[in-house]
Amino acid sequence: MPESSPCLILGVTGSIAAYKSLDLIRRLDGEGVSVHVVATRKALPFFPVATAEVFSGHPVETELFGGSLPPGEGLGRVPHLALLERADAVLVAPASADIIARMALGLADDLLSTLLLSARVPILVAPAMEEAMYLHPASQTHRKTLSDRGVREIPPDSGPLASGKSGLGRMASVDRILETLLPLLRKTRPVRGPLSGVRVLVSSGPTLEPLDSVRYLGNRSSGRMGEALAREALARGASVTLVSGPTALPPLPGCDLHPVTTAREMEERLRSLFPAHDLLIMAAAVSDYRPKEAVAGKRKKDGREWTLSLVENPDILKALSAMKGPGQVLVGFAAESSLDPERLLEKCRTKGVDLLVANDISRPDIGFSSPENEVTLVTPAGDFRTLPRADKSAIAGQILDAVTAHGWSKPA
Ligand code: CTP
Repeated sequence: MPESSPCLILGVTGSIAAYKSLDLIRRLDGEGVSVHVVATRKALPFFPVATAEVFSGHPVETELFGGSLPPGEGLGRVPHLALLERADAVLVAPASADIIARMALGLADDLLSTLLLSARVPILVAPAMEEAMYLHPASQTHRKTLSDRGVREIPPDSGPLASGKSGLGRMASVDRILETLLPLLRKTRPVRGPLSGVRVLVSSGPTLEPLDSVRYLGNRSSGRMGEALAREALARGASVTLVSGPTALPPLPGCDLHPVTTAREMEERLRSLFPAHDLLIMAAAVSDYRPKEAVAGKRKKDGREWTLSLVENPDILKALSAMKGPGQVLVGFAAESSLDPERLLEKCRTKGVDLLVANDISRPDIGFSSPENEVTLVTPAGDFRTLPRADKSAIAGQILDAVTAHGWSKPA
């Protein structure tokens, strides 16, 4: 992991949820975060240390003295200070009722508690315990003490607990932990890359147009292409805003997510966000039509035909290109049943984009429901380039390469 990557100390304490910390380490590693695990002795029966060491690439530390860190190494003269030297944050996940109480009281009788008392970086806790313990007045007082000191709690979920009962106290999902943690880490140590300082706005997914309170007109967009572009832009150092129609994808950590449903909601959101961005990538599959009127409630069967009257939705991309300010760059997509160069060039020019990314939607092996894509890039000057079939993240990287190659990455 490069020196510039964000660094997290992950405290693991005695809870059955400690097995989930392995997935957390793996996901953090995938997001370019260097993870150093400090486990309490009570965590060890629940925590596969060897696997955590392989996933994190670092030894799991437990002992205040006599662990793998030689005393006197680094800036600190004692091991827990050496660990803290590079850390951007400390997360305790799972955080047992015991560690929360010891943090609140300022106890320092093992490596993790000593490190938490010495830390001057943001501290987060993801509690995991039985509901009765979580709601006990003592725990509530300790959590309030920690919150008053600036420790951020990622609240637990409700569901089945280790006791077999159901209730509040399951450690927050890894997705929810990452949603809180990654923006914080990226703020402390922003990713440096070719898009550092560039504000990227991506639209993604389908739009759904209601017919009544339960039915809608939609399309097969999975949102994967837009997500891949947002992810790739984040990895290159951009700050990313994602406006997405409904998809089955988990929220992308590290970006500013704006969920929308209809084309008109998407238009309104993009219009207000666009002026504060340098690059817009319009990957959403916007529904061209919407029912003239949505029926209130659920329409009942009445033995007769239901004739729909549809009206055109606004062309969002065209409207945004008319608002385009100096230095702003627009990338549009085209969903076409055949890639006719003349039609593509016309679409590129009438939409007012700097780059058009054309998909052949007649091919079942790429595009809509597939993890792969093959696209043709078109510029208003009439340059065409086909990016051969590859997974959507590789295609996203090449689209951003094309944007950067044109010198469009510099903020105005
Ligand atoms: N788009 C948009 N608003 C719409 C329809 C499409 O902003 N109402 C955007 C899409 O996000 C995409 C580009 O316009 O970036 C082209 O979309 P596409 O579906 O290929 O073309 P349409 O504009 O819908 O035209 P047609 O279906 O007639 O080819």
